[in-house]
Amino acid sequence: MPPQNTPASVPLLDLRRQYDGIREEVLAAIARVCDSQSFILGPEVEALESEIADLTGAAFAVGCASGTEALWLALVAAGVKPGDSVITTAFSFFASASAIVRAGAKPIFVDVDPETLNLDAVLVGQLLRGRQSRDRQPAKPPEGVRAILPVHLYGQCADMERFARIAQEFEVAIVEDAAQAIGAEWNGRGAGSLGVTAAFSFYPTKNLSAYGDAGIVTTTCPRMAEHMRRLRNHGSPRRYYHDEFGWNGRMDAIQAAVLRVKLPYIAAWNRSRQQHAATYDQLFAESGLTSRNSNEGSAPVRLLSRSPQATHVFHQYVIRAQRRDELRQFLAERKIGSEVYYPLPLHLQPVFSYLGLKAGDLPVAEKAAQEVLALPMFPELTEAEIRWVVESIAKFYS
Ligand SMILES: Cc1ncc(COP(=O)(O)O)c(C=O)c1O
Repeated sequence: MPPQNTPASVPLLDLRRQYDGIREEVLAAIARVCDSQSFILGPEVEALESEIADLTGAAFAVGCASGTEALWLALVAAGVKPGDSVITTAFSFFASASAIVRAGAKPIFVDVDPETLNLDAVLVGQLLRGRQSRDRQPAKPPEGVRAILPVHLYGQCADMERFARIAQEFEVAIVEDAAQAIGAEWNGRGAGSLGVTAAFSFYPTKNLSAYGDAGIVTTTCPRMAEHMRRLRNHGSPRRYYHDEFGWNGRMDAIQAAVLRVKLPYIAAWNRSRQQHAATYDQLFAESGLTSRNSNEGSAPVRLLSRSPQATHVFHQYVIRAQRRDELRQFLAERKIGSEVYYPLPLHLQPVFSYLGLKAGDLPVAEKAAQEVLALPMFPELTEAEIRWVVESIAKFYS
């Protein structure tokens, strides 16, 4: 039996608590769109676009139907064409790779940094220089690499300094998958302004979330912004004239209106997430369960590293846990939510078998897939709930 005053349950994410605080504003915003009878693109979407451009520091933002759509727009605008290759991480949500395929290109999966689980920029550099990463034997660099797509995993930017240098040296475009990273920074610059184009998701579980599907692309290049505006609307520069194949990837006005209600809160919400992460860190340190050293295999729980250049927005708070699946089951019995992002790396997904990669090829991602566990994380989480989560984990290992 849990001691008294412990929470009866701790959800992984509780959107209702957020809704309770902004209900009137959200309903008024939805009513405003209904009264306007303008449901697709239009003034709400344009206003959101300029607000997101300001927030990220990118000059332009283009609203679209989802984060997946945003990735496709970002890749095509960055010049990715059928027959090209795009380097990306093996450890991300499926859309990071499927968008590359939809652009007609081939994904080249590279392993992740063991400390942060972000795409390993050193390995990417080695690959492009024609050196194989592990056995250091000379190898031909891959052909036709047009872009690199780092993912800012769990809300922490990938090593954008190194990627910027690689982009210059090899004349490839950096396209950010910033789906999990609204408000995140690298050396004081916003995610979304660090590559030539960037994609954000407003899926309901994201830090800034819509009431349905929505996404946005950002860029500092006016030509790419115009291109993405056309692509999201059937490649059409003006109604019923089509210069290229686009698609219906437009954003709904109701989603834009809801997002505009939430936008003024995002900085405070992200700060709350950072405070919760600090509380978790401290409680784990006090519990004696953790170690930050990835070589120290004996600690039952290990925390991921935080890059000093990164402002992490903790879309997820993720630990690496021994006997992860048993721990997850134990937490579920205590009604504590948790999730595995992601249980199977992308290079081992059946749909990518045509690339010819096999188990053992990208060992860091494969090991991470067996160990990662996301714990409850949302702005309205309480300290008592965090304490109960960590105490429960300590109980499991005791
Ligand atoms: C890293 C990453 N990329 C892309 C996406 C796709 O976004 P959406 O679900 O809005 O299409 C997501 C979210 O689901 C994501 O987490």
